[in-house]
Amino acid sequence: MKIIVLFGKPGAGKGTQAALLKETFSLVHISTGDVFRANIKGNTPLGVMAKSFIDKGELVPDAVTVDMLSAEVEKNPDAKGFIFDGFPRTTAQAEALDALLEEKCLKVDATIALVADDEVLIERLLERGKRSGRSDDTDALKIRTRFEEYNLKTAPLITYYSQQGKYQEVNGIGEIESISAKLAAIIEAL
Ligand code: C5P
Ligand code: MG
Repeated sequence: MKIIVLFGKPGAGKGTQAALLKETFSLVHISTGDVFRANIKGNTPLGVMAKSFIDKGELVPDAVTVDMLSAEVEKNPDAKGFIFDGFPRTTAQAEALDALLEEKCLKVDATIALVADDEVLIERLLERGKRSGRSDDTDALKIRTRFEEYNLKTAPLITYYSQQGKYQEVNGIGEIESISAKLAAIIEAL
């Protein structure tokens, strides 16, 4: 069982890389953002609630996100491993994930960050927004709020996982395939 957290700012390439790595390593890919967006599309109570935060570029409250993530994990009892993309995004979420895994005698094996400069990321998000139709990708103010949320709430996880010897960085700028190869080498070596 390999449990990988893909880490990085909005636009760093977490979703793109997770989609490739899940095939290579037969992992279940859980993207919290995708689950929220599916709920928004389906107009579920969770979606309606999450939308009010996502539309502003803010993080959804921890309790909601943790419950949702936990349900997604439970849906996959036969998984050979997981790749989490966009979760955890706060220290409380990381602690909840550790507790959830510990109950199953599991643990996070590695947190791998995709690193890129803000200017590159903003360009990528605006470009993606043209196709994705995601309002949080097209509005400069929402993008800025997402970066602020990252710096304030998510960046502390670098210390959290570094202290456990579980944090590694990969340059997120370059060819998708070459970045994927670097990530795969790290996962292979676990
Ligand atoms: O990961 P992604 O960029 O798809 O997330 C989109 C939005 O979903 C975030 O900007 C945030 O509003 C919400 N989200 C969250 N907590 C998470 C993951 C996503 O609040 N752990
Ligand atoms: Mg994503």
